[in-house]
Amino acid sequence: MSPTALSSAVLAAALLAWYGAHGRDLPWRPAPGAPPDPYRVWLSEIMLQQTTVATVAPYFEKFLGRWPRLEDLAAAQMDDVLHAWQGLGYYARARNLLRCARQIVDSHGGVFPQDEAALLQLPGIGAYSAAAIAAIAFGCPATILDGNVERVIARLRRVETVLPAAKKELHRLAAEITPAERPGDYAQAIMDLGATICTPRKPACARCPWRAACGAFAAGVEESLPRRTPRPVRPLRHGAAFWAVRGDGQILLRRRPENGLLGGLMEVPTSGWHETKWAPCAAHRAAPAEACWHPLPGVVKHGFTHFRIEVAVYAGRVDGRRAVDGIWCPPGRFGDHALSTLSRKIIRHAETNS
Ligand code: ADE
Repeated sequence: MSPTALSSAVLAAALLAWYGAHGRDLPWRPAPGAPPDPYRVWLSEIMLQQTTVATVAPYFEKFLGRWPRLEDLAAAQMDDVLHAWQGLGYYARARNLLRCARQIVDSHGGVFPQDEAALLQLPGIGAYSAAAIAAIAFGCPATILDGNVERVIARLRRVETVLPAAKKELHRLAAEITPAERPGDYAQAIMDLGATICTPRKPACARCPWRAACGAFAAGVEESLPRRTPRPVRPLRHGAAFWAVRGDGQILLRRRPENGLLGGLMEVPTSGWHETKWAPCAAHRAAPAEACWHPLPGVVKHGFTHFRIEVAVYAGRVDGRRAVDGIWCPPGRFGDHALSTLSRKIIRHAETNS
C-alpha cells in the first residue's frame, strides 16, 4: 500500500481540525479565542524542556500563583525561584528563567521580543523554545522540532536516516508542512499528536488524522521509526555524603557552587564524584568537619542525564561550637531549602538508616 500524497495545506488543515476536537486542555493554553499571554507561554515552554506535561502542570500553577506577571518574577530572589523549582530537575533552567525575566524587564522594557532570532539571545531559550514561543505567543510560522515532532515527521515521511543525523532532514520536512495561518495552534497540535496518537510504542494509527498520508503506516513500519543510534550506557560514578549531626540534632547543609551541576542548590555536604569508590580514609578527608564518621548501610543511587551515581553516606556528630561552611537545619525543616533530588534521597536514606 502506498500513502496518499496530500499537499502541505491539506495536512495542516487536517491536523488543525483534529486539534480543535481532540487537543489537550492544558493550564498554559488560553481559552479558545483568547489571545496567548507571552509570559505564560514562555514559562510553560521553559518548564516543559526535558519534563513531561503531567509533571509541569502543578509547577506552572504554583509559579503563576506566586509570580503572576513577568515583573513579579523578575523581582524574585534566586533562592525562592530555585526552591519553587525543586523537583523539576535541570536547575540551570530555573536560574536562566530568572535571568531571562530580569533581562526582559531591564533591556526590553518588560516586553518579550517577538521573533525567533531575538528570543534565541535570551538566557535559557534554545532553538526549540524560541520556535515554540514565536509560534504560540506571536503567531510566527516557526518550525518546532522536539522528540515528539521528530517521531511524527519521521513516520509521516518514512525517514529511515538515524537520529540525531536525521534532524536537519526532519526539520526541512516539518517546515514544509508548517502553515502560515495559525502556526501556534499547529505547533501545539503536532505536539499533541505526538504525545497522544503517534506515541513511541503502539501508536493509535486508527485515530490519526494523517494516517492516509503516513509513509510508515502504509509500509507497516511505524513502530520502528524513528531510527536511533543506540545510547551509550551511562557511566557509574561514586561519591560520599556526610550526615553531620550537631548536639541539638540539627543537620549540616551547604550550598553548592553556582557553576556546575546542581549549581546554587543546597545539599547534604558531598564529596566530588569519582569513577572509583571512595576509600573510607579518602572520604574522611573530603568531610566538611571533623567527626568520627561511620558509614551507614547501603548506598543512595541516582541517575543524571549523562551518568549514574552511587553515594555512600557517612554519619557523624559534629561539635557545633566550631565554625563550619554551611547552615544547620532542624530535621523537620528540610522543606525550607532548595535541595536537589539527590540530596533529598540522601536525607531519606540517612533518616531511615541512622
Ligand atoms: N511540550 C512542549 N511544549 C508544549 C506545549 N506547549 N504543549 C504541550 N506539550 C508541550
